[in-house]
Amino acid sequence: MSDRLAAVIVLAAGGGTRMKSAIPKVLHSIGGRSLVGHVLDAARGLQPHFLVVVVGHGREMVEPHVRGLDAHALLAVQTEQRGTGHAVQVALEVLPAGTAGTVIVTYGDVPLQTTHTLAELAARHRAEGNAATILTAHLPDPFGYGRVVRDADSAVAAIVEEKDASPEQRQISEINSGIFAFDLVALRDALGRVRTDNAAGEVYLTDVVSIAVADGRRIGTLTTDDLWQTEGVNTRQQLASLGGELNRRVLDRWMGDGIEIIDPASTWVDVTVELAPDVSLRPGVQLHGNTVVSTGAVIGPDTTLTDVTVGPHAQVVRTHGFGAVLGPKVVVGPFAYVRPGTVIAAGGKIGTFVETKNAVIDEGGKVPHLSYVGDAEIGAGTNIGAGTIFANYDGVNKHHTRIGAHCSTGANNTFVAPVDIGDGASTGAGTVVRRDVPPGALAVSTGSQRHVEGWVERKRPGSSAAKAAGQTRNEEGSP
Ligand code: UD1
Ligand code: CA
Repeated sequence: MSDRLAAVIVLAAGGGTRMKSAIPKVLHSIGGRSLVGHVLDAARGLQPHFLVVVVGHGREMVEPHVRGLDAHALLAVQTEQRGTGHAVQVALEVLPAGTAGTVIVTYGDVPLQTTHTLAELAARHRAEGNAATILTAHLPDPFGYGRVVRDADSAVAAIVEEKDASPEQRQISEINSGIFAFDLVALRDALGRVRTDNAAGEVYLTDVVSIAVADGRRIGTLTTDDLWQTEGVNTRQQLASLGGELNRRVLDRWMGDGIEIIDPASTWVDVTVELAPDVSLRPGVQLHGNTVVSTGAVIGPDTTLTDVTVGPHAQVVRTHGFGAVLGPKVVVGPFAYVRPGTVIAAGGKIGTFVETKNAVIDEGGKVPHLSYVGDAEIGAGTNIGAGTIFANYDGVNKHHTRIGAHCSTGANNTFVAPVDIGDGASTGAGTVVRRDVPPGALAVSTGSQRHVEGWVERKRPGSSAAKAAGQTRNEEGSP
């Protein structure tokens, strides 16, 4: 017999009423991944022959989501939620007839379960030759859970639900996490005999335990001390609490891998993010999606990056960025807004109050202050003056601006796209560039300055400005 698991069955048909959400419960996210996504990840780590997801409530949203996560997952539809046992029956129907071996049953709303724990459960199940092996935990407050009832020899006799439990049984602190390993043949057989004469009128998966015991089969347990791994999400409060714990675990792992995290309490890193040793995360950093940060880079304080690639030894301070690629030793911020299509080559700079979108900045190119760069290409070694706007939108279409290498543009310029500035060119302060500038030329567009003498005193007599001007003129003895 192969060591590979026959199947993992993930129950995800429940409604999640207490979330008070239009989004099905298992689609809510922590750590940048849906609850069911976390469970599928843990399940896939076991490399089962079949991965079955039971969907029901909100299945028009859950189904495509699951397919997107795993094209090979089998979907079983439970149109009416008639209990966990019924859900597993529905799952067994989509498995090819004759499938045998070990099957894991777990919940789609228990996001912190790990491949490691599920593998341990399966290993013990096989080693002991059990009909079923229950992942259990001892809870200080077991209220609401199914309790593991043991006989005088402390062998498992049954699982009794809170609603059906006697006062004595309610004192039992060992709970059923809901995660099981089963012998598939025994499971199929026992499920066919489960009745619905219980307080909920449901098909309880847990009744398989007492049926197998009556058949003379052994039931095992694996007890975990890591209670987070068995905790499900039913409410927004639990979503936040499990999200916080997941984040602590993710940060802990990264610190173990040599990442500096100054303040874990204010740092959030999605499970999909990649960090290299000697990255430093300052307080108030959130890294999301496929963000990748290379060695020596310093992120934060107060920076949010989504799908951003950060090169080695870059510095990103008080910045909001998504869909950007920042090269080695790039400096961004403080107070920068880096939007999709921003690509900054080595040594480039995006400074204070600068917004970029579809902006490609070549090596050492700099946009230090108060500017908008959209649909533009800035050459190597070029410096863009403070307060520059790349006017890329004519109200209908977006146009492109190219600024050559080693240009120096003046403060408060407007580049009216499409326009091309040749290599080594300069522009004067306040220039509105509407035509291409040849390489090495100086472009100026403002007229020469003229003065209308005495204008303030004539137009604003008695004003503070007029008085100040008059006084200075008298002191200087000028007319
Ligand atoms: C179940 C267990 C209980 C255990 C607890 C752990 C049973 C009878 N009880 O109780 O022993 O301590 O979980 O949390 O199994 N689901 C379906 N279809 C259904 C019913 C449920 O897919 O028809 C899914 C739900 O979406 C959920 C999971 O199964 O993810 C558990 O269902 P729930 O109704 O919350 O079970 P509990 O009453 O909490
Ligand atoms: Ca529950």
